Amino acid sequence: MSQSGHMSEKSTPALGSTPKHSIIPAPSVPEMADFKPFPNFSTDVLHVGQEPEQWNSMAVVPPISMASTFKQFAPAEHAGFEYSRSGNPTRNCLEKSLAAAEGAKHGLCFASGLAATTTVTHLLQAGDHIICMDDVYGGSNRYFNKCASKMGLEISFIDCTVVQNVLQALTPRTRMIWIETPTNPTMKLVDITAVCQVVKAETADWEVKPFVVVDNTFMSAYFQRPLSLGADMVMHSLSKYMNGHSDVIMGAICLNDEELTEKLRFFQNSLGAVPSPFDCYLVNRGMKTLAVRMKEHMRNGLAVAKYLESHPAVVKVIHPGLPSHPQYELGRRQMIGYSGMLTFFIKGGLEESRKFLKALKIFTLAESLGGFESLCELPSLQTHASVPDEQRKALGITDSLIRLSVGIENVEDLIEDIDKALKAAVKF
Ligand SMILES: Cc1ncc(COP(=O)(O)O)c(C=O)c1O
Repeated sequence: MSQSGHMSEKSTPALGSTPKHSIIPAPSVPEMADFKPFPNFSTDVLHVGQEPEQWNSMAVVPPISMASTFKQFAPAEHAGFEYSRSGNPTRNCLEKSLAAAEGAKHGLCFASGLAATTTVTHLLQAGDHIICMDDVYGGSNRYFNKCASKMGLEISFIDCTVVQNVLQALTPRTRMIWIETPTNPTMKLVDITAVCQVVKAETADWEVKPFVVVDNTFMSAYFQRPLSLGADMVMHSLSKYMNGHSDVIMGAICLNDEELTEKLRFFQNSLGAVPSPFDCYLVNRGMKTLAVRMKEHMRNGLAVAKYLESHPAVVKVIHPGLPSHPQYELGRRQMIGYSGMLTFFIKGGLEESRKFLKALKIFTLAESLGGFESLCELPSLQTHASVPDEQRKALGITDSLIRLSVGIENVEDLIEDIDKALKAAVKF
C-alpha cells in the first residue's frame, strides 16, 4: 500500500482471480470437536455493562458519550461522572464487558496496550525489581529495557518456561512478574498455574508481595483466563483479537483485587493514558463477535499450521495445537483453544522470506495481529526489530522465522495463497 492509500500492483489481492473452488483442500480440524468454551461467555460479553435501563433513552447499544465534562448538581455532587479522563459512560460499558470476558471483577481501559503496561508499572517504585519473560512482544521488551529501567527499576529477562528460573530470579525487591503466553513470536507457553504457585509460596511472608501479570493478547479472553489460573492481573492489547477489526489501538487490565484496582484507577486518571469514547464504542462492538470470530481463527489457524507442516519448503511450524509443539500438553491444560497465531521457519534465509512475503496476495504484509484479515510479517525486521540483536539470536528469531496471523477468510483460499507464494520463493 502506498502512502496515498492506493494499492500497488504487487500488493493487490488477487481476489478476482481466486477460483470459486480451490484446488487445495484444507486439512480437517478434529480438535474443534473437543472444544468447550467458558460457561456463559457470550451471554456475559453481550449483556454485562450494556443494560438499556442505564440510559433515559433505553438505547440497546451504549451511545458514544463524547462529552469531556459533565454537569454537577452542586460543587462535587454529580451523577457519577465529572470529567472524561476520570470516567466516561461509554468507557464504563466497555470496562464492564471486558471484566466479564476475563471472569474478573474489574476492567480498566488505556490508550494502547503499552499504555496499560506503563500504567501497571507505575505501581512500582525506584529500586524495585521486575521479572519479565525473555520472549515478549518487542515493544514490551523495549519499554522495560529502555524506559522503565531509566526510572530506577531493575529488569531481569528470564525464560519463564522453566519455573525454577523464576524462583532463582526472585529477589527481596521483586514486585512484578510479567508473563506472555503464548509468546510473541516463538509461541512458547508459560505454565501460569505453576509460576503463580511457586511465586505465592516463596513470597507468602513478604510484607509487599509481588504480583503476576499475564499478557493475554495472543489468546484473547475467549481461549485463556489467567486469573482463574492464579494470576493477579491480565493485560490485553485490545488492538488485536478483542477488538478484532484492525481499526483501534487500545489496551486493558482486568483484575479482582480491590486495593490494586483502586491504585490503578488513580494512575489511569493521573497518568491520563485513556482511550477516546469513540474507540471504546468500537471495541465494545467488536467484543460482541469475539466468540464467533475466535472459533474461525482457531479452525483456520490449525488448518494452515497442518498444511505448512506437510510442506517441503517449510523447515518447522510452531503452533501450540500441533502435537509437535514441545508444550502441547500444557497448552491443552491451560488454554481451551487456539487463536490464529503461528510461526514457521521457511527453507532458506532472508531472501526466501522476503520473496515469500511479497508473493502472498491474500495475506497482507503488515505488523499487528488478531484482526479478521490474514496478516504476515518478518519479526526480525518488523515487530521485534527493537529487541537487542543478542537477545533476538538467543531466542531463535532468525530471518527465516515468519509470523502469520490467520484471519477468517475461506481457508482453502489462504492455503492456496501460501502454496503459490512458497513455490515462488523456495526451490524444493
Ligand atoms: C502480545 C502483545 N502485547 C502488547 C502489545 C502492545 O499493544 P499496543 O500495540 O496496543 O500498544 C502488542 C502489540 O503488538 C502485542 O502483540
